[in-house]
Amino acid sequence: MIKTQPHRKMLMFRPADPLTHTVLRVFALLSAAAAGLTGLGLAVFLTPPLQAELPSPWALAAAALFVFGTFAAALFCCVNRLVLRRLAALSPDGCDQHNGPPAEEGTGMLDRIETSLTRHETRIGEQLAQLQSEVSERRAAEQEAKDALAVQTSFLATTSHELRTPLNAMLGLLHLIQIAPDTPPKCKQHARTALSAGQRLLEMVSNTLEAAKLEAKAVTINPHQTDIRRLTRHWLVTAEASLHRRSRDDDVTALLELSPDLDPEYYLDGGRVSQIIGNLTDNASKFTALGKVQIAVSPLAGSKHGLEIRIRDTGEGIPAEVRGQIFERFTQGKQGMSRPHDGAGLGLWICTDLAHLMGGSLELLDAPTAAGFATEFLLKLPLPQAAAL
Ligand SMILES: Nc1ncnc2c1ncn2[C@@H]1O[C@H](COP(=O)(O)OP(=O)(O)O)[C@@H](O)[C@H]1O
Ligand SMILES: [Mg+2]
Repeated sequence: MIKTQPHRKMLMFRPADPLTHTVLRVFALLSAAAAGLTGLGLAVFLTPPLQAELPSPWALAAAALFVFGTFAAALFCCVNRLVLRRLAALSPDGCDQHNGPPAEEGTGMLDRIETSLTRHETRIGEQLAQLQSEVSERRAAEQEAKDALAVQTSFLATTSHELRTPLNAMLGLLHLIQIAPDTPPKCKQHARTALSAGQRLLEMVSNTLEAAKLEAKAVTINPHQTDIRRLTRHWLVTAEASLHRRSRDDDVTALLELSPDLDPEYYLDGGRVSQIIGNLTDNASKFTALGKVQIAVSPLAGSKHGLEIRIRDTGEGIPAEVRGQIFERFTQGKQGMSRPHDGAGLGLWICTDLAHLMGGSLELLDAPTAAGFATEFLLKLPLPQAAAL
C-alpha cells in the first residue's frame, strides 16, 4: 500500500500562538501609519498652491514628514517580511499567512483535498494489488509451462532412445541374416523385406519424434567447424545406393557438384544440415526411377560465409496443385492408399523448421527443365564466421 504524507503543512501557514499574532498586528499597524504619513507628506509637498499658502517652516515639516514616512514604510516592509519568514520557519505549521485563504475556508478545502487524495490512494492501492496478483499469476503460469516443457523434452528424449535402440538392433540383425553366406535364398528375401519395412518404420518413428521435439522447441543448434565436402559425399553414396536398390534400371545415377570456391570448413551444425540433406536426397531417390539425383553445393550469393545447397532430380516431379502446401505437415504429393511411397508427410516440414532454426531457408524452385530436372529444392544457409562467435 502507498503511504500518505500529511498534506496540510504544505498548503498554508496559520500563526498558532498569540505572540505571533500581536507581532504581526503591530508591524501591520506601523506599516500602515508609515504609509499614511508618506502619503500626507507627499500630498502637501507636491501641491504647489498648498505650498504657496503654507509658511516655509510648515513646508519644511511636510518635506521631513514625507522623507521620514517613506523611510519608515520601507523599513517596516523589510522588517515585516523578514520577521514573517523567520516566524514561518519557526512555527510548527510553518507557511505564509498573507497569501492564504482564511483558516476555516482553508481547512474545508484541505479536508476536501485530503478526501480526494485518500480516494485516489485507495484506487491506486487496489490497482497495484490487482497488478501484483496478475504478475504472480503470470509467473506461476510461466513456471508451469517451463516445467511442462522440461517434462515433455525429457519424455521425448527417453522415448526416442527407447524406440530407436531396439529398432536399430533388429535392423542390424536382419542385415546380418541377409548377407550371411549360409542363409537360404528364401530367408534372404524375407530378411530383405523385413529390413526395408523396418527402415520405413524407423524413419516414421524418427520423423514423428523429431516433429514433436520441434513443436516443443526442444531442438537446439550446435554449430562447429564442418567439412561440407565430406558431409555431402556421404549423402551421394547413400543416394546412389538407394537409387540402385529401388530401380531395376541401371540408368539412374547420383551426382555431386562442388563449387571450387567452397571453404575447407564451415561453422554449422553438421548433424542438422546432414538431416536436411538426407531427407531431401531420400525424397529425390524415392521419386526418381530414371535419370539422376544431383546434390550441388556453392557459396551463398551475397554472403561471406554462407552456403547454398541444391538437391535436384529427374523424377516424377511434384504436382502443381500441391506445390503451394508442400512444406506443410502431412502433405503428400499423391493421396490415398494407392500411392507407391510411404511417409507421414513430415520430412519437408522438419527440414524447413531446421533451416529456419539455423537462420536459413528452404525453397522449392521451378526446376531447370532443360536439363531434364523435375524437382529442385534450395537450402540457403547464411553462416557466421566461427571466429566472430
Ligand atoms: N523430390 C521429390 N519428387 C517428387 N515428389 C516429392 C519430392 N520430394 C517430396 N515430394 C512430395 O512431397 C511429399 C512430402 O514429402 P515429405 O515431407 O518428405 O514427406 P515424408 O515424410 O512422408 O517423406 C511426398 O509425399 C511427395 O509426394
Ligand atoms: Mg520425405
